[in-house]
Amino acid sequence: MTPIVSLDLASWRPNAPEEQQTAIRTLEGGGVLLLPHLAFELSRGERRFLSPAWSNDRAKNISLEGNVLKGARGDPESLAALAHMIARFAERAGELVTGLFPRYAPYVKRARTSFRPQPAVGRTLSWRKDDSRLHIDAFPSRPNRGERILRVFSNVNPVEDRVWRVGEEYAAMAQKFLPQIRRQLPGTPALLALLHVTKGIRSEYDHLMLGMHDKAKADLGYQRDCPQQTVRFPPGATWLCFSDQVMHAAVSGQYMLEQTIHLPVTALYDPESSPLAILERLCGRRLLPAH
Ligand code: SIN
Ligand code: FE
Repeated sequence: MTPIVSLDLASWRPNAPEEQQTAIRTLEGGGVLLLPHLAFELSRGERRFLSPAWSNDRAKNISLEGNVLKGARGDPESLAALAHMIARFAERAGELVTGLFPRYAPYVKRARTSFRPQPAVGRTLSWRKDDSRLHIDAFPSRPNRGERILRVFSNVNPVEDRVWRVGEEYAAMAQKFLPQIRRQLPGTPALLALLHVTKGIRSEYDHLMLGMHDKAKADLGYQRDCPQQTVRFPPGATWLCFSDQVMHAAVSGQYMLEQTIHLPVTALYDPESSPLAILERLCGRRLLPAH
């Protein structure tokens, strides 16, 4: 079973060695680190952002990348305040990761921060985009060639839990789905990049990650019967996981902040714990082109 480990942390700048050890072991072990009492506090003025009305109709999430706010609508003054709130969360999340995982510190450059004011489930989406089905994160247009996806989440809903299902361990899931994935046709990765379907070349690693994402989501029997547990993230809780490794699915909830941090495999305390290393062991071959 995927470990869910709680730490009674109340500071965004932790530095106790025991807390670091627990955090490292949990995350790199493919688990979820739950910090039930580490709340991201909204100011009174910011509480007005707890409404789906701030998202424009096109985007699923509101996001901040650098100084650019996307997916939101409202008057300029409100949007500046909203961007400020999201930027503050990005800063806290970065401090938290630096405090718990000192080795990751050089990579805590801001990737993308999102505010998710829509209900976690309920909108009709294609099965591939349906995050209420158990999946690992893998994105068709963004090959990452083994780079890790570390995510920090905070439930800013004052009254409602965010609820997930968390599935079986990565290696068990991979063993189930790898045999179902066909090899990429030679030339396909270059063609996809040329047509700008992908941002850069889709490596064999990316092809397999995407394949497992799709096979797991499409398999309703697996969704129903695979080993899984329900995990509740109460109001004021923060949690972290490597979302490219933890099988996760949204069940319910609304109003969450999320920070993504990309890490090269070499930044890990134990690179052998990465999905890349696990897949290469299972396949018995290298899955990234040699440089
Ligand atoms: C996801 O990351 O797949 C969805 C998580 C959520 O909406 O809580
Ligand atoms: Fe996801």
